[in-house]
Amino acid sequence: MVVGITGASGSIYAKRLIEVLVKEGIQTNVVATEKGKQVFKYELSIDLDTWINELNINYKNVKLEDNNNLFSGVASGSNKYDAVIILPCSMGTLAEISHGLSKNLLCRAADVALKEGRKLVIVPRETPLNTIHLENMHRLSTMGVAIIPAMPGFYHHPSSIDEIVDFLVGKILDYLNINNELFKKWEDTKYEI
Ligand SMILES: Cc1cc2nc3c(=O)[nH]c(=O)nc-3n(C[C@H](O)[C@H](O)[C@H](O)COP(=O)(O)O)c2cc1C
Repeated sequence: MVVGITGASGSIYAKRLIEVLVKEGIQTNVVATEKGKQVFKYELSIDLDTWINELNINYKNVKLEDNNNLFSGVASGSNKYDAVIILPCSMGTLAEISHGLSKNLLCRAADVALKEGRKLVIVPRETPLNTIHLENMHRLSTMGVAIIPAMPGFYHHPSSIDEIVDFLVGKILDYLNINNELFKKWEDTKYEI
């Protein structure tokens, strides 16, 4: 899997997804934009490079890519990763991907997923959305991209931020056909009204 992190709010989602993928034993290559690293540090008080390096001590299946390195394996369709998940996805990166700009590794990986017919998951985060944002999402959606907004539900009665985060990450894993119990499915969680 390739996990892209941009400078939209919601770094906590990326951190949780990476943790789950790595612990599942799935090779996870992380590509973060410069703004993505800054917002990650701002929101979580964690340096992304340091955190990935620490994770790598126990789990050898995680790698932080250099977003400027278009020579990375991730930049090529011959590297057979299953999916690219961009979370949180800024409106800027969304626009770049929807218009085929591949000027950095993250956008190139998304472009590769599109041209190779692999899964591309975009987790946009912005509110309110303007017409440009909506048109860019629509454009990608028509190409089969999964738009899974950072839009948690509350019908499972979350009692912590972690549960809210797990709800969204669980939805992404479900889409990728990765078994998980991050959130209770509807039939198991229905409450009496
Ligand atoms: C704390 C913080 C939160 C931000 N949240 C969002 C957001 O939720 N959505 C968004 O599209 N941009 C957000 N931005 C703006 C982006 O970081 C900015 O547009 C940046 O250029 C995106 O670059 P990137 O796509 O290369 O990461 C935020 C910026 C900061 C500093």
